[in-house]
Amino acid sequence: MSNSDELFNRAQAVIPNGIYGHYGGAHLRHSPNFFESSAGSRFTDVDGNTFIDWMCAYGPMILGYNHPVVEQAAARQAAKGGTVSLASPVMVQLAETLVELVQGAEWALFGKNGADATGLAVMVSKAATGRRKIIKIDGGYHGTAPWMQAQGSPGTTANDQESVITIAWNDLEALKSVVAADGPDIACFISSPYHHPVFASNVLPADGYWTSAAQLCAEAGILTILDDVRTGFRIDLAGSHAAYGFQPDLMCFGKAIANGHPISALLGTDSVRHGAEATFYTGTQFFNAVPMAAALATLGELQAIDAASVITNLGDRLNKGLIDVAASHGHDLAVSGVPGMPFYQINGDHGHDVLKQWVTECGRLGAYFLDFHNNFVSAAHTNTDLDETWAIADKAFGLLPA
Ligand SMILES: Cc1ncc(COP(=O)(O)O)c(C=O)c1O
Repeated sequence: MSNSDELFNRAQAVIPNGIYGHYGGAHLRHSPNFFESSAGSRFTDVDGNTFIDWMCAYGPMILGYNHPVVEQAAARQAAKGGTVSLASPVMVQLAETLVELVQGAEWALFGKNGADATGLAVMVSKAATGRRKIIKIDGGYHGTAPWMQAQGSPGTTANDQESVITIAWNDLEALKSVVAADGPDIACFISSPYHHPVFASNVLPADGYWTSAAQLCAEAGILTILDDVRTGFRIDLAGSHAAYGFQPDLMCFGKAIANGHPISALLGTDSVRHGAEATFYTGTQFFNAVPMAAALATLGELQAIDAASVITNLGDRLNKGLIDVAASHGHDLAVSGVPGMPFYQINGDHGHDVLKQWVTECGRLGAYFLDFHNNFVSAAHTNTDLDETWAIADKAFGLLPA
């Protein structure tokens, strides 16, 4: 038995489902379950197999695993202290940096996970407006708090989602009608900058969607919350709203903000600062200075290399190369989403069986993709990674049954 299988058996005895949450499906995909080490664009599993990682830990890895500048900054802060009885100067520096970097941001609060930021954003919007309802996009993901989950999810009750109104992505008419029906009761409209569901095409905003949506909300006194947790810093370093031409009241970041160190941020404009000041929200580890130092170093590096452009360019090349490879085997590979976060499908592949098999073969040969979720490109991926990945992709298509 492989080390990975042995660990998974042990895990099943002491951890519900063995591995839970979004990491839980790996064993179903015949891919490794446990890593031993990671560096740059690659990780090595507990059986000694190394993979070019096109999932980037589901987004946090943006500069490369074990990036020296980030790790040194974290180690320097760790030597001074992490969670101490007082806040750290680095918290102020990080807030100043984000306010400077992110379009329209005038203050920042910190948490650990993306859901801390999205959950706090909604509380702030309710505190600022005195209203109780939330508009969200059908299939949009904001974390695992009960209100964020689909109706009927185990562990939630109907009450948890009672104040959530769900509308389809890119549907301005739907937004108009819920605003017309319920406007004075609605605190906020929360959405990612584009629609990136699992198991379905990712869909960019229609021309003018965001400007109209933000305007419609502003006219009705509804706050706009941008959930940039997954997309943050891969589309535009000033926030994805800078790319799509609108200004949210609240902006949520997580994942890539500290290149894998645990920290998230809620940023806001001064018009909602009173809501942030009134809301009690905290956590034992929220003030830990080590991830804050890592975030400062990450943001500095992202700016220094213009990471969003690097990632978009690399993603473009990766995707074009894969489309060509697929075509040479008679497959029509469709890529949706932004170039640096590609979601792959094969046209005509009903049931996704061909894609699933191709992704599995790519994994066996050393390129780690997912078939049901968008993939991620980092600034650490290299031309060698691209060449090796295209060669692996070619071989993998060749191994599929005709
Ligand atoms: C768009 C979006 N929002 C929020 C979250 C929640 O972040 P976390 O899992 O760090 O709580 C995620 C996580 O995947 C996400 O993709």
